[in-house]
Formats: sequence, C-alpha cells, structure tokens
Amino acid sequence: KIPYVVTSKSYTAVAINAAAKAGEWIKSRAGSTFKMATKYSAQDLVTEVDKGAEQMIRRLILTHFPDHAILGEEGVEPGAEASAKALEAAREEEFLWIVDPVDGTTNFVHGFPFFSVSIALAHRGEVIVGVIYDPIRDELFVAEKGKGAYVHGDRMKVSSEASLSDSLVAIGFPPDPEFALPANMSVAKTLAPKVRNLRAGGSAALHLAYVAAGRLSAYTEIGLNPWDIAAGALLVQESGGIVTDTQGNPYHLAVRYVAASNGRIHEELIRTLTEENATGVN
Ligand code: IPD
Ligand code: CA
Ligand code: CA
Ligand code: CA
Repeated sequence: KIPYVVTSKSYTAVAINAAAKAGEWIKSRAGSTFKMATKYSAQDLVTEVDKGAEQMIRRLILTHFPDHAILGEEGVEPGAEASAKALEAAREEEFLWIVDPVDGTTNFVHGFPFFSVSIALAHRGEVIVGVIYDPIRDELFVAEKGKGAYVHGDRMKVSSEASLSDSLVAIGFPPDPEFALPANMSVAKTLAPKVRNLRAGGSAALHLAYVAAGRLSAYTEIGLNPWDIAAGALLVQESGGIVTDTQGNPYHLAVRYVAASNGRIHEELIRTLTEENATGVN
C-alpha cells in the first residue's frame, strides 16, 4: 500500500528508511538500561539511545547525499539561543535535513509508549519532505510538498470540527521551568474551559502527525525547536490543515511557538491565544 519505493534513492525513500531503521533500534532499546544525562534543565533528559539513533540517521543520509547538511538535536548545544544560531547558520543550505532522533525522550525513559523519530528535508529553507515514525504502533507518517500526506499508504485528512468547543486540542510542557513551562501552563488555563478537552502526550512530532491524521483538532506549544516541528508541519499542511506561530504568522523553520489545526478552528484558536495573551509572550 505504501506509495513509495523504499529501495530507490529518492529523498523520501531515504528519510523513510532512516526513520524506520532508527525507530526499530529505539524500540529494541526500550525497557533496557541506558546511560542518561540532563541537558538544559533537570527535567531535560538525553540518553545514549537519542545519540545513537541520531548517529545512525546521519550516517544513512550522508551515505546517499554526502554534500547535504544536517541539523540534528543532539548535534546542537541545549537551549533556545544555541538552536536558533545553529538554524541560522544552516538555513541557507541548498539541502538541509532536520532530525529529531527521539521526540519524546521523557516518555521513552519512563516506558510511556508515545515517542517518535522525526526527519524533514528542507530545500533552500522550505520543507519538501516530512517523515515521522512511531515504532511502538509501527505507524509511518509521510508527506511530500504538493503531493499530500499518508499514514501507511492511506491519504490523511485533517478533522472537521468547526469550533473550539467541539475540539480535542493537544498542548505540551517543554523542560524549561523558567520560561516555556509557565507560558504553556497559561495556555492550558486559557484553552481548557473553551475546548472539549486537552491532551499532552509528550511528543510534539506525534501531536502534529495526529492533527494531520484527524485524531486531534489542533496542537499548540511554546518553546519548541526546529526539529520538533519541521516534518510535522508539512504533514499538517499536506493534510489540509494550517500551521502558524501562536500569533497567526505563517510557519517557517525558525518558528518556536507553534499553532497547528484543521484550519476551520484556526482563527478562533489564534484569537483565543492572542486576545487573552494566553501565552504571556505576545
Ligand atoms: C520534546 C517533546 C515534548 C515537548 C518538548 C520537546 P524531545 O522533545 O516534543 O513533547 O513538550 O518541548 O522538547 O526533547 O523529547 O525530543
Ligand atoms: Ca531533547
Ligand atoms: Ca523533540
Ligand atoms: Ca529529541
């Protein structure tokens, strides 16, 4: 059913191959013992599995495309400033792969089965391929610019809710207790009474994939990094949804405050976030 020939050398095939191989290995390491450290804060975890998966993905990409650039989470110093700088330096590259080897590291560490591998390819700053793989459910989400988005071969379509009151909306809590955590708590407080219910699954990439698949009406989070969003943003767009920052400006690689939805509720979502200054950062 998968409309992609995985053995060919296309960008998408390489992205799928890398996500699938890394995902399988990550799954095989779940529940085992692994070295762990903290990064930006005491809540910000990294394991040898994150690093090993990123190495594996890098090697695979460079085998096929040795002159392409790669921006991977574990190759960048922790913190918003360093990641913004790393993106700035890489943004003009003709081909830039943007890699989150394990999105949902905290879930992985605790055995909460909700994490993913996220791989995007940008051409001169525009995302043209997005692949997200959930190794636990063996779900592969694939989007190509202008060609739609698929989950295991089936075309995806965003959900149809037309108001926040009918919507299931995901939020998130980045491991940054000083800034991002209170901002997202404030978003939660503003949205909770207005939506059908909130969810916080702990994988930005899977939240975006679920918006694309129509399983969530929207997802918003403040304080993300390019690798959390790039692949998922294309999935949502190619499934008929809208991705902006939390003020409603169009998505680009440097967006850190994201709002993604089925499109129909987007205006109400942005109005709610901005009018009430829910984020505290507008
Ligand atoms: C995190 C996850 C989480 C989100 C954080 C991200 P990581 O990514 O996407 O859901 O709330 O903001 O940092 O570190 O597990 O790849
Ligand atoms: Ca991380
Ligand atoms: Ca991530
Ligand atoms: Ca990660």
